[in-house]
Amino acid sequence: MRIMIVKNYNEMSYQAAQLIADQIIYKKNSVLGLATGSTPIGMYKELIRKFQKGELDFSQVVTFNLDEYYGLSIEHPQSYGFFMWNILFRHINLKRENVHLLNGVTKNIDNECRQYEDLIQKNGGIDLQILGIGDNGHIGFNEPDISFDTQTHLVNLTTKTIRANSRFFNNTQEVPKQAITMGIGTIMRAKKIILLANGKRKTKAIERTINSPITTKVPATVLQLHKEVTIIIDKAASSLLASDGNIFFN
Ligand code: PGA
Repeated sequence: MRIMIVKNYNEMSYQAAQLIADQIIYKKNSVLGLATGSTPIGMYKELIRKFQKGELDFSQVVTFNLDEYYGLSIEHPQSYGFFMWNILFRHINLKRENVHLLNGVTKNIDNECRQYEDLIQKNGGIDLQILGIGDNGHIGFNEPDISFDTQTHLVNLTTKTIRANSRFFNNTQEVPKQAITMGIGTIMRAKKIILLANGKRKTKAIERTINSPITTKVPATVLQLHKEVTIIIDKAASSLLASDGNIFFN
């Protein structure tokens, strides 16, 4: 694991966008796995800035999003599809046909999940996967105790996640109780992974991800087994880690 501890959220966003830019410059038709939530918003803003300055071309880039609430259509303002179009896609020159989002209102979950996995494979697999992390160590919506060999699938959200995500809804009741997510198996097949975290709320999850023995109780610990993981965290999220350098390697 390569761990970058940076001074604040802006620096985390800048560094992550830089790594994505490097990937796209290296391979124009890179396949990106994208995350939603509050963490990557700054990174997406930085990617838009790079695009507007003419430093980045997304015309051949292919994207797959990590997850989607089950029961929310793309028109719903809290759906992750809506989020992606609003925060990133409509601001850059990504081709609509190269955007892949899970359909939260599918009538056939098994089919939706299988097709998504097939499409990832047909596109040559994910070159670079972006991840946030839940307070409970979830990645995507892979909640604690999930099996490590899962593919894209339907999951029940934990009370903790529903509570954490209720900040985006009018109340807890409105938060969907299920989601469709890439599995841990899907995520681990990505060639490279970047995990981002900022703020005090994430300190415990980050400390466990890096130092705890690998356990399904903290899904992100599985990343210790991946050969190309970069964790970018701000000072606040790193406060339980022993080393306090600017950048160190593990
Ligand atoms: P957040 O969510 O970026 O809104 O903190 C991350 C996650 O739950 O995976």
